Amino acid sequence: MSEDNNRDSLIASARRALDNSYSPYSSFRVGAALRFADGTVVTGTNIENASYGLALCAETVAVAKAMDDGHRGGLVEIAVIGETGGAVTPCGRCRQVLSELAQLGDTDPVVWCAGNGEVVQTKLSDLLPRAFGPASLG
Ligand code: THU
Repeated sequence: MSEDNNRDSLIASARRALDNSYSPYSSFRVGAALRFADGTVVTGTNIENASYGLALCAETVAVAKAMDDGHRGGLVEIAVIGETGGAVTPCGRCRQVLSELAQLGDTDPVVWCAGNGEVVQTKLSDLLPRAFGPASLG
């Protein structure tokens, strides 16, 4: 599979995940997809709560699902998409949550940030430089 097909298929997985978004308060649907070195793809979508501050972001839900499936590292590629014109970048908390899983396998995943009309390529280390992580605890 070419690099472009890889990117497009991961973004398509993230977009499909967004169909299950529970976001009645913001009406902002977000989907995320994580690709692992073994080819596995795990998706997540945002889940809100009547107590607004308890909202779970799509990326955090995807990481929780992946870790519940037993993944500990091997995170090579991430896609996040929102229903807006510009590319959606992971929020600060999600950067930290994604970073923990990446650091467990010593990878620096490519991050595709997408919207309806734009895709931006970045790396997790660019989004969260000098990240705190498991090794920081000594
Ligand atoms: N959201 C995500 O799912 N991921 C992000 O990285 C940014 C924000 C969600 C949280 C909330 O449900 C909605 O988008 C509006 O902030």
